[in-house]
Amino acid sequence: MTPPETWSAVDDYIASTLVPSDDALDAALAASQAAGLPPIQVSAAQGKFLGLLARILNARSILEVGTLGGYSTIWLARALAPGGRLVTLEADPRNAEVARSNIARAGLESVVDIRVGLALETLPSLTGPFDLAFLDADKINNANYFDWSLRLSRVGSVIVIDNVVREGSVIDRSSTDPGVVGVRLLNERIMREPRVSATTIQTVGSKGYDGFTLVRVER
Ligand code: SAH
Ligand code: DHB
Ligand code: MG
Repeated sequence: MTPPETWSAVDDYIASTLVPSDDALDAALAASQAAGLPPIQVSAAQGKFLGLLARILNARSILEVGTLGGYSTIWLARALAPGGRLVTLEADPRNAEVARSNIARAGLESVVDIRVGLALETLPSLTGPFDLAFLDADKINNANYFDWSLRLSRVGSVIVIDNVVREGSVIDRSSTDPGVVGVRLLNERIMREPRVSATTIQTVGSKGYDGFTLVRVER
């Protein structure tokens, strides 16, 4: 079995070859670390993937649930089509403040709208449709965030959900880990939803063994 150190080393190699960083991204990571935020943002490769997806979709409106220090926000907001906007939802005002500063440093404050509060309380005030939604907050509410994303979507919208494999623990039906329970509830919700088509891709890298689910709104 290939060890996690190799996954991480390969992620470093991918970053150094295909995913050049820049001052704004580096500064966002440094400021997030200095502020004591947990280092749970997407990897550079994942950030670029999200940006590419937004570009492929020609996304003009993006919804993000779970801002942290705004690292994934910067990748997504940079990929917006001209005139586009991104709304990102964050419960913790300290995280939101770090994100605000990181997003401003990246020159994106005019296209990013940070809504501070519990996502289930801010979601009802949003106006869709969003071309792309990235769900990456408290995992227990994944199915609720999926419902809202669907309500705020159109045919062709895409929803990406992070952290859906959890080192494989997602298959443990007796787990009480809210991350696992949240993913299983999400999958049961998606299974019963005829309006969408979805799959999960397992991943390894600097963030260990995890995965993301990709959903397209079909009707
Ligand atoms: N998307 C970020 C990482 C997000 S980490 C990136 O990749 O860069 C998850 C974030 O969700 C944390 O900042 C946490 O405070 C926030 N969060 C947790 N519960 C929430 C809730 N109920 N509503 C909104 N945000 C929440
Ligand atoms: C955690 C949350 C995330 O969104 C992530 O990508 C990795 C870890 C966490 O809460 O541990
Ligand atoms: Mg995540």
